[in-house]
Amino acid sequence: MSEKNNFSVSEKEILEQKEFTEKVFALNQEFFDKNGYQRLAYIKSYGCQGNVADGEKLKGMAANMGFGFTDTADNADFVLYNTCAVRENAEDRIYGNVGALKHYKRRNPDMIIGLCGCMMQQPHIVEKLKKSFPYVDMIFGTHVLHKMPEIVYEAYTSGKRVFETPQSKGVIVEDLPVRRDGKIKAWVPIMYGCNNFCTYCIVPYVRGRERSRKSEDIINEIKALIKDGYKEITLLGQNVNSYGKGLEEEINFSKLLRRINDLDGDFRIRFMTSHPKDASKELIDTIAECRKVCKHIHLPVQSGSDRILKLMNRHYTRADYLKLISYAKEKIPEASFTTDIIVGFPNETREDFEATLSLIKQVEYDSMFSFIYSKRVGTKAAEMVDTTSDEDKGRWFRELLEVQKEIGINRYNRYVGKTVKVLVDGEGKSGKEYLTGRTDNFIIVDFIGDKSLIGSFVNVKITKALNWALLGEII
Ligand code: SAH
Ligand code: SF4
Ligand code: F3S
Repeated sequence: MSEKNNFSVSEKEILEQKEFTEKVFALNQEFFDKNGYQRLAYIKSYGCQGNVADGEKLKGMAANMGFGFTDTADNADFVLYNTCAVRENAEDRIYGNVGALKHYKRRNPDMIIGLCGCMMQQPHIVEKLKKSFPYVDMIFGTHVLHKMPEIVYEAYTSGKRVFETPQSKGVIVEDLPVRRDGKIKAWVPIMYGCNNFCTYCIVPYVRGRERSRKSEDIINEIKALIKDGYKEITLLGQNVNSYGKGLEEEINFSKLLRRINDLDGDFRIRFMTSHPKDASKELIDTIAECRKVCKHIHLPVQSGSDRILKLMNRHYTRADYLKLISYAKEKIPEASFTTDIIVGFPNETREDFEATLSLIKQVEYDSMFSFIYSKRVGTKAAEMVDTTSDEDKGRWFRELLEVQKEIGINRYNRYVGKTVKVLVDGEGKSGKEYLTGRTDNFIIVDFIGDKSLIGSFVNVKITKALNWALLGEII
């Protein structure tokens, strides 16, 4: 049964938060009058783009509460880490960074420290954080992000530490203030949560059930972004292909893409992430037919072995996946493909791993995000007995990188001599006078040009392929 959209937060709750925003604003004003400087916030997000987009809302709320901003934790009055729980190394970074704050807080006792995001939805982690870091003033989960004004107010006034980490199927809160990190590219979440329960993955446990925003809210947000001069809109969701399920309106992801493509303006559209089980021919046709939709398909395969895909609960086979890729290659010859791979899922064998190698050779990805499997407490895979050694996992992981490097170089070489359209987004790494941007296909291109071009589309003729980027000349 599809649930109708009952994820909305009540008007009353939203009004309450506005009141808390004003109360914190008054506190910050008082602080300014007394000390002659504005309290500064340092809000840092880890993990996926969805979390980064949440971070932009946290910053929006902080700005409305009267905080200024700083780029480092050491001179901040309010430090907030918006955490990721997807792999152990993401969590370890947080432990390290929070540890370092102790010293700053000793120097500035007025400092408040907060932790939020996905790690805070795991009770065993919250317990550990509470005990290990007594100087952390507030901990709040992903389902109460919009309550940050109240939580900050409590942290300043109650004299107690504030913990708010309810378990929930999730909420949708529209119209939160957003303070975007850039002026050229913008993130637009179209849905939240995940229902897929891939056996290795913590996301469904920390982000709640899958829920879609109304298309009208999405379109209005994008119209405003285009009006503000944004040139690239990336639609976000853990599984964008199931967009629309549970909404009252008759819509799916392809229809949404077409409606955005029809908006006036010179901009391009990206999206992530597509789950192969729900990526349809209709989606490929839509990408092919919509001029503004980038011809780049990020389609995480995770493994090339049917045995492992089944254990991962991915609901597609190697053959299904390859069939979709070959349909896409036929329909969109200029398309580029990227993927995510996990090496070392419990009991993965050399044979399974070789199936992954042969798949990546067959698809010829432009680039790949690869990860060594990380055991996540609470997931199904965490209960599987794992006999594959860490040495094997490490060796296979390095081998995978080597094989992909070769594939990537060959792919990149195919662009030499071609002219590509690049959205210039900043200064390049290749030298002082260089600019950088990405092609429609998601490849980095560096070229010499004037800084005034930042934020516009230019045509660049590719002269050379490096293994991480292309070099070219403006034409
Ligand atoms: N919703 C997206 C991915 C979200 S997480 C999808 O289904 O494709 C991003 C990537 O992190 C995943 O694609 C996977 O490759 C990796 N990942 C997730 N959980 C992991 C784990 N426990 N260990 C290692 N990598 C993991
Ligand atoms: Fe995790 Fe799978 Fe959901 Fe992606 S689709 S977020 S990998 S459970
Ligand atoms: Fe990490 Fe949470 Fe995203 S676990 S990958 S920040 S949804």
